[in-house]
Amino acid sequence: MSRYIFLSLLFFIAFSCKEPINHAKPKPPVRGLITEHAMVVSAREEASKIGSDILKKGGNAFDAMVATELALAVAYPYAGNLGGGGFMVYRTNQGDIGAIDYREKAPLAATKNMFLDSLGNVIPDKSTLGAMAVGVPGTVAGVLTVHEKFGTLPIDSILKPVIDLAYKGVIVTNKQEKRIKKYQPLFIKANKDSIPFDKAWKTNDTIKYPKLAKTLERIAIHGKDGFYKGETAETLVNFIQDNGGIITKEDLEKYEAKWRAPIVFTYDDLKIISMSPPASGGVCLAQIMKMIEPFDLHKYGHNTLKTIQVLTEAERRAYADRSFYLGDPDFVDIPIPTLIDTNYLEERMRDFSFAKATKSSEISHGSIEIVESDETTHYSIIDQFGNAISATTTLNGAYGSKLYCTELGFFLNNEMDDFSSKPGAPNMFGLIGAEANSIAPEKRMLSSMTPTIIEKNGSLYMSVGTPGGSTIITSVLQTILNVHEFNMTMQDAVNAPRFHHQWLPDEIRMEPNLFDKKLIKALNDLGYIINEERSPVIGKVDGILVLEDKTLEGGADRRGDDTAVGF
Ligand code: GLY
Repeated sequence: MSRYIFLSLLFFIAFSCKEPINHAKPKPPVRGLITEHAMVVSAREEASKIGSDILKKGGNAFDAMVATELALAVAYPYAGNLGGGGFMVYRTNQGDIGAIDYREKAPLAATKNMFLDSLGNVIPDKSTLGAMAVGVPGTVAGVLTVHEKFGTLPIDSILKPVIDLAYKGVIVTNKQEKRIKKYQPLFIKANKDSIPFDKAWKTNDTIKYPKLAKTLERIAIHGKDGFYKGETAETLVNFIQDNGGIITKEDLEKYEAKWRAPIVFTYDDLKIISMSPPASGGVCLAQIMKMIEPFDLHKYGHNTLKTIQVLTEAERRAYADRSFYLGDPDFVDIPIPTLIDTNYLEERMRDFSFAKATKSSEISHGSIEIVESDETTHYSIIDQFGNAISATTTLNGAYGSKLYCTELGFFLNNEMDDFSSKPGAPNMFGLIGAEANSIAPEKRMLSSMTPTIIEKNGSLYMSVGTPGGSTIITSVLQTILNVHEFNMTMQDAVNAPRFHHQWLPDEIRMEPNLFDKKLIKALNDLGYIINEERSPVIGKVDGILVLEDKTLEGGADRRGDDTAVGF
């Protein structure tokens, strides 16, 4: 080949392979905390430290889970809770995997149309604010059930530092000051009497929680009965009923956390273990990742036009299925094997083209939208023995129903809003629900929580999760891809700008001012609607990555006060 032809050919190849549109200036990689043995990453330093100290004392990841979860109830009342619920996925150092569901339940007196008026319209605020919004809390049963099966330290020694923290108090951060101020009008609306959070708390003030400490002491002494029976149960039920709620003593007595088989699937050389229904996270994550697996995202590049298109189209299709099929598996049959089957998912993506956006109205099952609150919280733990847990816990909305039981020292959830009050009508996250997620006594409401653990070549690789309501699934997805496809550190993977599509509304939500305007224009030209207003932040991901030399790297989200602590 002559030199001229060779150069022409080079020129042709160079200009016919379009560069991905990526205007981000290359920055040096940022590493999170690196530790040799163990780590806890959570929304507050106090909780991560209490969890890490339990590990230092010789406890395992499950002991540390109890401590961290309950410490979040003290240090992070925005989402950490005794009055809510959650999900946890684990992998032991023997490679055994499992999951526990401590999701709230509808009370026995709940009815399908309890949030509708006589004309069949959703009554504003009834499923989000005040006592009717409250589902039967699951957190205490969840952590104690985990402790019963896997714990090694006595429960009173695990709870001691948490109780001490509640008595000593927690320093208000700048972000917390803003959050309290923002929600004060709703605290006044939801509560008959004033609550400690009505005060004008300022950054660096200390909030003490003596009543919560007493509640925790009863749990330390009586275990599950210290919450679901006796003085706490009596006080809680009276309080809820005085405020017009329907939860009874029988509801509390009957509550049980449930062990569930997690959703397991592969993506390239990764084995991904995530939460099963009534959390939609695992199924949706599996669907999206199987739909995108055939595309060469690594080649397209991080947050480039093509990558955003592929992810958006897979998300659109997965969220359409979520709305139609998913609910509490104890009440509805969910065709999970089909939903995550490779052939089914290939078929789902068959009509995707890079030439233009698919319209959500053309995607079945399309009579539903999705709405869920952003104010959950997640923590990840890897212990010095090689056990890992990934747990996401919530009150649903910020400070849940805003109803605060002063005598017991905690907020109550508004998880009833995660049911579809009226199939086809969006909830507070804009998520549309179907019949599968309609209200029934003792049913668990559908969740987006996606606590996830990943293995690579048979070894523990990552523990990851996030709050963010309907954006939980896509935030976890992007964090995994950032590490696996785009070679980011755990911290960079967590920090990177995020976007989200959930089928309906038919728009790509982007974190504001973090995506290039030319990229947005290119997406608009292909028919995508971009919304940079809806979500100032998408997710607050916390994760731990096992590096090649077996040290641990924490990724604690810059979007919150999240902190990694370990040794
Ligand atoms: N309440 C948020 C979720 O469960 O996904």
